[in-house]
Amino acid sequence: MSKNGQKENRDERPLPFVVAITGASGSIYGLRLVQYLLSEGQPIELLVSRAALMVMKEENDLVFGENLKDELLDHLKLSKDVPLTLHQLTNYGASVASGSYKTRGMAIVPCSLGTLGALSAGLTENLIHRAAAVCLKERRPLMIVVREMPFGHIQLKNMLALSEAGAIVSCASPGYYHKPQTIQDQVDFVVGRVLDQFDFDNQLFKRWKSENSITLVKQI
Ligand SMILES: Cc1cc2nc3c(=O)[nH]c(=O)nc-3n(C[C@H](O)[C@H](O)[C@H](O)COP(=O)(O)O)c2cc1C
Repeated sequence: MSKNGQKENRDERPLPFVVAITGASGSIYGLRLVQYLLSEGQPIELLVSRAALMVMKEENDLVFGENLKDELLDHLKLSKDVPLTLHQLTNYGASVASGSYKTRGMAIVPCSLGTLGALSAGLTENLIHRAAAVCLKERRPLMIVVREMPFGHIQLKNMLALSEAGAIVSCASPGYYHKPQTIQDQVDFVVGRVLDQFDFDNQLFKRWKSENSITLVKQI
């Protein structure tokens, strides 16, 4: 403790950040988030569901073999010495399963309706659920980026329950005011807004400016 009672960060290393990629469409968002943070030197604790691997195969033509971590790093064009820890989802003894292991928070990108349901019900059927529950109980930021269309009543209630429990609830919903030209622009908008929620500096998308606001009002 410092003289004024504030907690001091004696350890100079940044706290790890937990990223989970689940089996909703849009694994490209989670992959980009991981790529960006690792390229900035941010330690990542990564959790990937089996369904997410199926989606990556379907959407990104990614088929992984025995060494998921190295193959993932190759795909993300990152060196093998980046601070990435990949966890088995059955390993409830992993660091992120305990609240005593300090993290900066957790983002589930994308978040399937299945994972949403488990979280809102307080289930811990895999390490993603447990790590998210830890964030909520420890009052650390937890963001979920749900992907589905349309939402049913049950999912809307689940999202409300999680929001009431302190989670930041969103869906993968890229804006268009930054005039995206490519899919990458749209992906980076969503990922940039996720990074914003955790105060990670980023220039992944063009931010809104007040002069643009005036222009837009005139156009309408
Ligand atoms: C190609 C593909 C796309 C999918 N897209 C979605 C989706 O957008 N949203 C969703 O909630 N589930 C989607 N699913 C279904 C989930 O993968 C499935 O419900 C799974 O049980 C989720 O498990 P997880 O939450 O452990 O990853 C998709 C599945 C596949 C194979």
